[in-house]
Amino acid sequence: MSEYQDIVDKNKQYTFFSWSAQEAANPIAVEKAKGIYFWDYSGKQYADFSSQLICTNIGHGDERVNKAIMDQMSKIHYVQPTNVTKVRGELGELISTVTPGDLNKTLFTTGGAEAVENAMKMARLYTGKQKIITRYRSYHGGTFAAAAAGGDPRRILNEPGIGWIVRMHDPYSYRSPLYRHCTPEEGDMIVCDLLEETIKMEGPGTVAGVLLEGYSGSSGVIAPSTVKYWTRVREICDKHNVVLIADEVMSGFGRTGKWFGIDHYNVVPDIMVMAKGITSAYLPLGAVTANDKIAKFFDKNMLACGLTYSAHAVSCAAAIATINVYKEDKLVENAAMLGAKLEKKLQVLSDKHPSIGEARGKGLHWCIELVKNRKTREEMSEWNMPMSKPMMELSAYLKNNGISTFVRWNQVYICPPLCINEKQIDDALEIYSKAFEITDKAVM
Ligand SMILES: Cc1ncc(COP(=O)(O)O)c(C=O)c1O
Repeated sequence: MSEYQDIVDKNKQYTFFSWSAQEAANPIAVEKAKGIYFWDYSGKQYADFSSQLICTNIGHGDERVNKAIMDQMSKIHYVQPTNVTKVRGELGELISTVTPGDLNKTLFTTGGAEAVENAMKMARLYTGKQKIITRYRSYHGGTFAAAAAGGDPRRILNEPGIGWIVRMHDPYSYRSPLYRHCTPEEGDMIVCDLLEETIKMEGPGTVAGVLLEGYSGSSGVIAPSTVKYWTRVREICDKHNVVLIADEVMSGFGRTGKWFGIDHYNVVPDIMVMAKGITSAYLPLGAVTANDKIAKFFDKNMLACGLTYSAHAVSCAAAIATINVYKEDKLVENAAMLGAKLEKKLQVLSDKHPSIGEARGKGLHWCIELVKNRKTREEMSEWNMPMSKPMMELSAYLKNNGISTFVRWNQVYICPPLCINEKQIDDALEIYSKAFEITDKAVM
């Protein structure tokens, strides 16, 4: 038996795979990685066009981060979170300099879902209210409350979820019926009016928070058409004493061409949640950063949150090194610059391929929706249903030709590491274009 097959078989025999019937798992056995590429045990090269789970933002194998991890490891790897390390305070300070406004004090977790859970706890403790309003087309993690907070269908198998989560509709001008008889900008305002209506109907005295992805991720990179959407959400939250929580787990750390997705809208949330790009997945870490008012509240009131591995020293060292890489290599700027070029290149692809319904995104954070018919916008594969034959073939074509990315229902993602260059994007787009020829044949 080949080494490759042996590795896959052992993993399948002894380990579980997420979000999958176990027999359906079809993993790549990855041996090594560098920059935007990784290689499997047969020597095959893949370009990492979803940055694994949209987290390896600075790219693979960065020696500066590896060294910081080793150095910290040899000094002190862990102290219980009632004690402190040098790197914990330094990272807290660094985060306060890259986040907007007065987001200045951070609680560290081990990942995104835990950060979301703790952000919701903070909002509830701070306001003394219970309910959290979230969006249907959103994902906030796989733990129980975070999964319930996300509207993503991955929540459904664990329902009934949580009584204090209330969901609202999305600024999804391409598909939402709310936009049928108005401009995208007018539709955004209707969605905001409905948020206020929801708060009124739920009772403003019961609503603690509104939790939104700073820039939508795995639900299809759904963005409002006007910056007014976020301004209005901010106003509504202020009016009703509701904490605005931005989940920047996926959209943070340069992904969209700014430090954080919400920075495109010039709005400062009350709490920001981070993970993934904070260490670029060199080690697990999440963060919940609160504004001064909320932080002050917890001076005298107990912060009823805690984790054994909160502020793990080696993860903190990895995060400091990673944030320094973003700065040194100007990766946020690179994402913005290449994002503007990618937008034009995707327009050319859209003109060529009738199966492209809409290409949406910012920076290096893009989703392409494939349709059977541009007029009716019928999806190439239905939402939350097994993938259609053309989408399965497209997915296989990309993988066979060395592109690793998400393909979900009728969506294909382009989210490479931010250290990518234009030539690497062009090479990949040639393969994407050939893959779209498969879905073009299914256009009616
Ligand atoms: C927006 C968002 N929030 C939270 C999470 C959960 O993060 P984790 O998987 O690290 O728990 C994810 C994961 O994809 C995410 O995209």
